Amino acid sequence: MYCTDVSKSQELLQRALKTIPLGSQTFSKAYIQYPEKTSPLFLTHGQGSRVWDVDGNEYIDLVSGLLPNVLGYNDPDVNFAIQHQLQKGISFSLSTELEIQLAEKLCSIIPSAEKIRFGKNGTDVTSAAIRLARAYTGRDKIATCGYHGWQDWYIGSTTRNKGVPKAVCGLTSPVPYNDLNQLETLLKTKEYAAVIMEPCNTTMPAAGYLQGVKDLCETHGSVFILDEIITGFRFALGGAQQYFGVTPHLSCFGKAMGNGMPISAIVGCTDIMKEMEEIFFSGTFGGEALSIAAAIATIDKIEKEDVTDQLWSFGKELATQIQTIINDHDLNDVIGILGLDPWRILSYKDIDSYTSFDIKTLFIQEMTKRGILINGSFNINFAHTILDQDKIVAAFKQTAEILSRAVHKNEMSNLLVNPTIKPLFKVR
Ligand SMILES: Cc1ncc(COP(=O)(O)O)c(C=O)c1O
Repeated sequence: MYCTDVSKSQELLQRALKTIPLGSQTFSKAYIQYPEKTSPLFLTHGQGSRVWDVDGNEYIDLVSGLLPNVLGYNDPDVNFAIQHQLQKGISFSLSTELEIQLAEKLCSIIPSAEKIRFGKNGTDVTSAAIRLARAYTGRDKIATCGYHGWQDWYIGSTTRNKGVPKAVCGLTSPVPYNDLNQLETLLKTKEYAAVIMEPCNTTMPAAGYLQGVKDLCETHGSVFILDEIITGFRFALGGAQQYFGVTPHLSCFGKAMGNGMPISAIVGCTDIMKEMEEIFFSGTFGGEALSIAAAIATIDKIEKEDVTDQLWSFGKELATQIQTIINDHDLNDVIGILGLDPWRILSYKDIDSYTSFDIKTLFIQEMTKRGILINGSFNINFAHTILDQDKIVAAFKQTAEILSRAVHKNEMSNLLVNPTIKPLFKVR
């Protein structure tokens, strides 16, 4: 499967740029994130684990829509639920029973869930969690660890903070993962409303770390928020909190919850969630019924078909084979796979005169050419098959050979047909 003609994508990009800044609605889907000349940039449709671009090329999708597509594209059970609800209506003038059904379901499967509210994006619910924590504690400062969305309170603490008032930037402090001492120094000031963190991304939590964060929060009167936007419905049905056995005060779910439909949830203990009645967290589409019906169907299927078990075993096999190829080609100083099996993250490394961005550009260029759509991680889903796995591994092996020639035989300038992707802000 060689996908080399992306001329229609290139044409559409030029057209898009006339009306759409960056040519995309999502930073991570924009042309600046991919090798400039050889990447597909616009897709037409998907089925299971596959997607097709506007030039007619077929890819095994390892981006999975940036992780919502946990069951794969066009899942029949989720589609049925959406179509069934579509006959009845989408956005109603009052609430529906579906909202209660979904809230009850989440309370039954997520360890920390006693009360629930819904949003449309991950950012909606991480921002709601921060407002709740501020309301509950009467404090303003926030400690963060990971990526939490596009709102001022978080993005102000990154290097891409243009447009965020300085006063807001100063309220958020990033803390390093697995470092309880630095966190304690902050929390001891008693100025912190909350610690919000991804339970785990590139690095495994050290023994006792997550519980240690919760204990520090409780000692110093801060709210412990787990951002499970990625780990929810992926690490376990009840999220990473179930997998790691730590119960946060509040947690945030999104992405996989509706298999591609826009829905998210903030869940937490009753006494903090009670503040929802006092703060303002409200939107026209919060109870939009197609997404809620899709979420019920998605979660039911994840539960009935042991989807998270399959993600663990598929991811483990894939990671084992990939690591073997990296070892065989002496590429451990060039590329690595971090994280846990359901969500492996690629690390591209600086080596000799080549930057990690040269490596990334060549890697994506070669994988894409071989029909694998990938960027920074292995976003596997339930629709990926063993045949897909074989093809991913075969493409990775050929790409590894090319990476090896590029760095070990100094052939980078001949092999890299794209300008190097430009460094962007890093959140993990
Ligand atoms: C861990 C985490 N939190 C929050 C968000 C923000 O979610 P959204 O893009 O749906 O607003 C993301 C998005 O990638 C995420 O990965």
